[in-house]
Amino acid sequence: MLAPMAGVSDLPFRLMARKFGCPLAFTGMISARALCMANSKTLKLLESSPDDRPLGIQLLGREPEYLREALYVLDRFSYDVVDLNAACPVRKVARKGEGAALLKEPRLLSKLVATLVAHARVPVTVKIRSGWDHASVNAREIAARIADAGADAVCVHGRTRSQGYGGKADPDVIRSVKEAVSIPVIASGDLFSVEAMEKVKRETGCDAAMVARGALGNPWIFREIAEAYGKGAIPSRPSVEELTGVMREHLRLSVEKHGEALGVIDFRKFFIWYTKGLKNGRLFRPKAVLVNTPDEMRGLIDELRMARSPGLPHPASQALPYEALEGPMPMSSPGWLH
Ligand SMILES: Cc1cc2nc3c(=O)[nH]c(=O)nc-3n(C[C@H](O)[C@H](O)[C@H](O)COP(=O)(O)O)c2cc1C
Repeated sequence: MLAPMAGVSDLPFRLMARKFGCPLAFTGMISARALCMANSKTLKLLESSPDDRPLGIQLLGREPEYLREALYVLDRFSYDVVDLNAACPVRKVARKGEGAALLKEPRLLSKLVATLVAHARVPVTVKIRSGWDHASVNAREIAARIADAGADAVCVHGRTRSQGYGGKADPDVIRSVKEAVSIPVIASGDLFSVEAMEKVKRETGCDAAMVARGALGNPWIFREIAEAYGKGAIPSRPSVEELTGVMREHLRLSVEKHGEALGVIDFRKFFIWYTKGLKNGRLFRPKAVLVNTPDEMRGLIDELRMARSPGLPHPASQALPYEALEGPMPMSSPGWLH
């Protein structure tokens, strides 16, 4: 499934993932409190379409009352799963006791899960990290509490909060969660390829897996996973025609959703991800951050198509160029990465 990614997992991005077979996608985290205040920017994060299903909505919060109220607000929307964020490492969030900070308050976390389970009309999942820091790895205990509180599944990102996105996700933690609970366990962390997906399944026994950075500029990963599992063969990477066709469609959806100016600005980061690993990508990325109109962006995508000989493979994303997001790129929360 497609992982929640604040500032990234919007409707256009989710639709591109679904086009290639992503079976379930999540919104980025949405503050329950902001939802209750009917904050217009927050409500925009809930935009969806009939093709965007099944959809998981991820809530961020620490007050049972706001979570309950947020579910009432969500009654006006169509969705299929509600997820509670106990994983976000951002200082601004953790300082308020939300996100990964909930790992330090197991009782409160149980209460929040129980509240969601009592009031939600859809399955409830919870996303956690392996612990707050290396000295307090407690995913196993936390997951057991989450299961006892009635959650339908738990997703474990195998890094601690203090690890941020550095180092490697630890499969042992995910395996120990799997051994401790009978609800489905979803693995997250470093799933950049079919091979990584198979490895985490083998090493942890997880029931499902979430792709996050591996899907940036690379919606084909979902086709590769589906085909690898269905036929036991890994299909080739997209041709340059397919790559640039998908870029054009993503741009169109982005402009449709955000308007011309913002749609293009928002698409710039995706341009960078889509061209990561392309031989000539380096020549185009600096231009992409200067483009302001849909016509200019379409022109640049055409240039990319003409510059590359058809059929060349587009390598899978691995470590992703977050540095490229700094500066003019509108990431809702660059601090997320620290
Ligand atoms: C830009 C970005 C935004 C993210 N936003 C969220 C979020 O809103 N909620 C959440 O639970 N995790 C969020 N994550 C974490 C991912 O869902 C995932 O657990 C993490 O990136 C590990 O997977 P990976 O190593 O395959 O990228 C975010 C990650 C990135 C890179």
